[in-house]
Amino acid sequence: MTDSTSIIILGASGDLTRRKLIPALFSLHCRHRMPEPNHIFGMARTRSDAQAFRQTLKEAMVAMAPKYFDPKEWPAFADRLDYITGDPAETEALSMLDAALEKVEAAVDGAHNRLYYMALPPASYAPVIQALGRAGMVNTDHGWRRVVIEKPFGHDLPSARTLNDLVHQVLSEDQIYRIDHYLGKETVQNVLVFRFANSIFEPIWNRNYVDHVQITVAESVGVGHRGKFFDQVGVVRDMFQNHLMQLLSLVAMEPPSSFDADALRNERGKVLSSVRPILPEDVGANTVRGQYDGYCQEPGVASDSQTPTYAALRLFISNWRWEGVPFFLRSGKSLAEKTTEIAVQFKAVPHMMFTQASGQQIMPNRLSLCLQPDEGIHLRFEMKVPSTQAETRSTNMEFHYASVFGPDAIPDAYERLLLDALNGDASLFARADTIELAWGLIDPILEGWALPGAPPLAMYPPGSWGPEEADAFMLDAGRAWELGCARHDV
Ligand code: BG6
Repeated sequence: MTDSTSIIILGASGDLTRRKLIPALFSLHCRHRMPEPNHIFGMARTRSDAQAFRQTLKEAMVAMAPKYFDPKEWPAFADRLDYITGDPAETEALSMLDAALEKVEAAVDGAHNRLYYMALPPASYAPVIQALGRAGMVNTDHGWRRVVIEKPFGHDLPSARTLNDLVHQVLSEDQIYRIDHYLGKETVQNVLVFRFANSIFEPIWNRNYVDHVQITVAESVGVGHRGKFFDQVGVVRDMFQNHLMQLLSLVAMEPPSSFDADALRNERGKVLSSVRPILPEDVGANTVRGQYDGYCQEPGVASDSQTPTYAALRLFISNWRWEGVPFFLRSGKSLAEKTTEIAVQFKAVPHMMFTQASGQQIMPNRLSLCLQPDEGIHLRFEMKVPSTQAETRSTNMEFHYASVFGPDAIPDAYERLLLDALNGDASLFARADTIELAWGLIDPILEGWALPGAPPLAMYPPGSWGPEEADAFMLDAGRAWELGCARHDV
């Protein structure tokens, strides 16, 4: 018996399909990683047909993902692509889709599995999932049914809870795959391997040795054509609730007993439930919010917008491992460089027996996990300067993925995530409880920023490292922002 797999992209005429989903599926096809036989259906309200859909996707791939495009493989892949015009929230359109799916499935005698991908605006998630439920298209009598849901999942805790409730009326939790593409990044997954497949780091990964942790997700681009969306969301909902919280939970979590989805997600959830929320009245002491000059002139942005494009937070995790260790998180648009890194800054040596040349300072050890774009790991340590009596200098021990595995070794996050969803592995997806825990940490901050006495929005020039207030915030905390992933940096 042979099983068939259908991938159904709902909202297939959008950017996500062209930019991420099709390149990822095509790459999996070229590497023979797709379950066979498979078929890919696109559905959207935009009037089109299979031939035009294939052509648009081919052109988009050549333009946007040339390194993934293999002209020899394309025709066989394109044959699997189909398109149906219709609104996926409407029963009639779904019946047409179901009939088309059944026609393809009828050729195969085994289970008929289906992966539905919600490449839709967030307001459509619940109505479309409910419509799929009414149409009987998510019942599992003839094969598995899984639904991938894009972010943002809710815009605050109450809306995330409502969405979870609505979705759970139709699907069981193990059918739901809530995407956070950061979890699909190779370097993000490596945080766990680095921590738990080596024995020398874990003994020092705690409050006895770690002074503080910095997580930086800096982007050099502004909001571009996404001004309208971004202005309603802001950097905290767009980046912190999901990506930065996931990074924080991977760095801070306890070792799970197995690599099983629930064991991993339980530990990630435990970290989030141990984070002390920043209360609205404490936002002045623990947060900075900024906006880049010129943001209000971006297309789609309100001319008097108070939406932050930059934020920095100080969080504490109340547990035995991390009590008293500050975690500084920052992210912003239009910053000097695109870099995502986690810096674990160790404590300074307790006693200094070497004399320092004037102006020289001994630096504490720092481990930088360089998540992108120059993926790698850097460890800063002190060494003796040759031909001096005992002068020291900081240097880095560096590992670069590109040097070890080759320049194109790192696949796109969507490739891994789609494959995991097809294989039924939900480890790298967010569970209902962790989504709600993360919103529970974000809501009080947004509430605090809306209070009359909240610190004002700090402006920063595009191309800088954020507002001066963010540097003052770190200085007050007795620390400084650090970037350890540039090759030249020590
Ligand atoms: C998305 C945000 O989730 O992540 C975008 O909505 C942001 O605003 C993007 O630009 C960053 O992703 P990456 O993979 O480029 O770091």
